[in-house]
Amino acid sequence: MQAAAAAAALGFLLLLLAGASAGDEAREAEAVRALLARLLGPGPAAAFSVSVQRSLAAESGLDTYRLSGGGGAPVRVLGSTGVAAAAGLHRYLRDFCGCHVAWSGSQLHLPQPLPAVPDELTEATPNRYRYYQNGCTHSYSFGGGTGPAGTEIDWMTERINLALAWTARKLVSSQVYLALGLTQLEIDEYFAGPAFLAWERMGNLHTWGGPLPHSWHLKQLYLQHRILDRMRSFGMIPVLPAFAGHVPKAITRVFPQVNVTQMGSWGHFNCSYSCSFLLAPEDPLFPVVGSLFLRELTKEFGTDHVYGADTFNEMQPPSSEPSYLATATAAVYQAMVAVDPDAVWLLQGWLFQHQPQFWGPPQVEAVLRAVPRGRLLVLDLFAESQPVYVRTASFQGQPFIWCMLHNFGGNHGLFGALEAVNRGPAAARLFPNSTMVGTGMAPEGIGQNEVVYALMAELGWRKGPVADLGAWVTSFAARRYGVSHEGTEAAWRLLLRSVYNCSGEACNGHNRSPLVRRPSLQMVTTVWYNRSDVFEAWRLLLTATPTLATSPSFRYDLVDLTRQAVQELVSLYYEEVRTAYLNKELVPLLRAAGILAYELLPSLDNILASDSHFLLGSWLAQARAAAVSEAEAHFYEQNSRYQLTLWGPEGNILDYANKQLAGLVADYYTPRWRLFLETLVDSLVRGIPFQQHQFETHALQLGQTFALSTRRYPSHPQGDTVDLAKKLFLKYYPRWVAGSL
Ligand SMILES: *[C@@H]1O[C@H](CO)[C@@H](O)[C@H](O)[C@H]1NC(C)=O
Ligand SMILES: *[C@@H]1O[C@H](CO)[C@@H](O)[C@H](O)[C@H]1NC(C)=O
Ligand SMILES: *[C@@H]1O[C@H](CO)[C@@H](O)[C@H](O)[C@H]1NC(C)=O
Ligand SMILES: *[C@@H]1O[C@H](CO)[C@@H](O)[C@H](O)[C@H]1NC(C)=O
Ligand SMILES: *[C@@H]1O[C@H](CO)[C@@H](O)[C@H](O)[C@H]1NC(C)=O
Repeated sequence: MQAAAAAAALGFLLLLLAGASAGDEAREAEAVRALLARLLGPGPAAAFSVSVQRSLAAESGLDTYRLSGGGGAPVRVLGSTGVAAAAGLHRYLRDFCGCHVAWSGSQLHLPQPLPAVPDELTEATPNRYRYYQNGCTHSYSFGGGTGPAGTEIDWMTERINLALAWTARKLVSSQVYLALGLTQLEIDEYFAGPAFLAWERMGNLHTWGGPLPHSWHLKQLYLQHRILDRMRSFGMIPVLPAFAGHVPKAITRVFPQVNVTQMGSWGHFNCSYSCSFLLAPEDPLFPVVGSLFLRELTKEFGTDHVYGADTFNEMQPPSSEPSYLATATAAVYQAMVAVDPDAVWLLQGWLFQHQPQFWGPPQVEAVLRAVPRGRLLVLDLFAESQPVYVRTASFQGQPFIWCMLHNFGGNHGLFGALEAVNRGPAAARLFPNSTMVGTGMAPEGIGQNEVVYALMAELGWRKGPVADLGAWVTSFAARRYGVSHEGTEAAWRLLLRSVYNCSGEACNGHNRSPLVRRPSLQMVTTVWYNRSDVFEAWRLLLTATPTLATSPSFRYDLVDLTRQAVQELVSLYYEEVRTAYLNKELVPLLRAAGILAYELLPSLDNILASDSHFLLGSWLAQARAAAVSEAEAHFYEQNSRYQLTLWGPEGNILDYANKQLAGLVADYYTPRWRLFLETLVDSLVRGIPFQQHQFETHALQLGQTFALSTRRYPSHPQGDTVDLAKKLFLKYYPRWVAGSL
């Protein structure tokens, strides 16, 4: 039964990719040629010949590429789709040329002549889908501002064929609500600000950070068309948003009889910003709003038939009655198929794992069975850590995608569960009667810990795990810097066995280092790895500075690893501070506090300032870029500053999306640390107890001052990374080794 259902589900999903014409093949090949030219420049790109042929996929219909040629002849890349050809191209660049395409700067030094592919190399992916993004990725990346630039879609071509494309959703919602009779003011009051759109979409939030300027919508409309054009040109499938049931309260003014339920609050927000209204699934208005939204959306943007909607993401449903949950689920689906009979619903399975006490077997089953098999595509969002497919019999036979979530809030801080990621997809595929149809990356934020995403890129095309992760990370290091170097390779092996081999409680996808948390006397400083490995990796990476100082990825990693070492040191000096304070020893307290607040933190800000990827100025510039006036730019910037720090007006989700950026360290974390440490000293000197509550009140004021500040920050790096890293190393490494901070 299950196996047959899985086959049927797969059968339907297969249809989605069928029906391409010769015109599509030519267009996709052209898109990959343009990608090549962007990556390598027009000259080197001319040494490749790219074509797309659907028939290469044979009966399986699974993306396939074939590589041949090189060694003096053109390198021939053939793909069953544009994305398959792009994956083949990336495979060639990676495994034959030793290149690396990365957020932190690509290493595309090509050997000459281009290496030959000895035999024709044909590879088919076992994954119908290689998926990308989390409902929050957009909001936690790009400065909380506009959407992916072309370079981000180029990065995607190595890894994925299915991705969210939710830009401009607000514009369509707004048109729908205007058509229903709401006023512009009512709609503006409902929408959240640009850095908080993801949570408004999921019904968690409304109003906070808004209202959106009207120019925002037009820019988003233009951007969404560009994103869709680019994605489709490769044959990627964009997932459009659909109506999940959340509505502005004002709908009850226009339709006084309408049946709505007010949901509970979310994320320490009060009901001024959360407690969204949910349209009752039985209400006749539900299909009207749902279909109107999708009709308007697909009229504007066309469709590839996959739609994302999340009604109960981190939102407790008003009733745990299976019949209610089934009705609520069916209503969302019915509104989709009323407009698009081929609709497939992409659901984030996060709800089941986030509130397991609510989502017992009958509740889970009610949702999964309310949609015909094969029409619900479930993302097992955090499968590397807490897979849901194992306890739901493969989502009751609905197809699912094994996703690595990796991080919450896009924090800096080195971490990853590479062993679990490596084994996960193959294990899910081998699960009895598995309905797995793909692998995915569902990070809340992008732009850190690239090694994790590099591994996942390969797993999207592998049938089994990488056999030897140690060897893999060694070659990763060589490709990343374009040079095989003993020191850097040894450094990466140490990182693999420490920060990138996390498991257990301490490792939960968040950077909880005291450095980026509001200080208290109760902070946890334990980590899942041996700190010596980080300091040794730091030393080893520095041994390569004479050879690699001009490699952008090397410099990025040197900043990142120095940052990590400072993060460790902050924890250690904080422990000294705490011990000294509790023992009432003023001199040791002053010493440790002085080093932490007046040496370490300023040095951290300096080294971050030396790389363009670690600048608050660049982060805020991304947010400001959407503005058409200085007032708007200021508004976007403020949204972004809130998200990085307090999240809500009163520190509602404090430091969740913490980053380590030059400017943010100097003007947000440092003043807070200084206030904490000075309060401790004052308490000891004057013999009065330290009041955490009072400190928090003052820390909140500091946070608000930072969020509202109009201070501008450079978006160009300053200072030399290597010099700065060496200085820090020479000062602190000997202390660490001697065990005397
Ligand atoms: C898998 O499906 C087969 C055939 O439908 C069934 O007999 C078996 O119990 C299923 N196994 C599991 C673990 O669900
Ligand atoms: C919610 O909190 C905000 C400040 O965070 C406050 O201004 C508002 O009055 C509160 N609303 C309610 C309903 O308590
Ligand atoms: C309103 O909707 C709720 C939830 O779907 C349902 O239980 C209730 O019966 C509805 N009330 C009316 C008056 O239709
Ligand atoms: C990761 O940790 C596990 C134990 O938790 C261990 O078995 C494994 O060998 C480690 N992997 C590496 C690469 O060090
Ligand atoms: C941590 O690593 C260092 C060297 O890398 C080693 O000497 C030490 O024994 C390790 N400590 C533990 C607890 O494993």
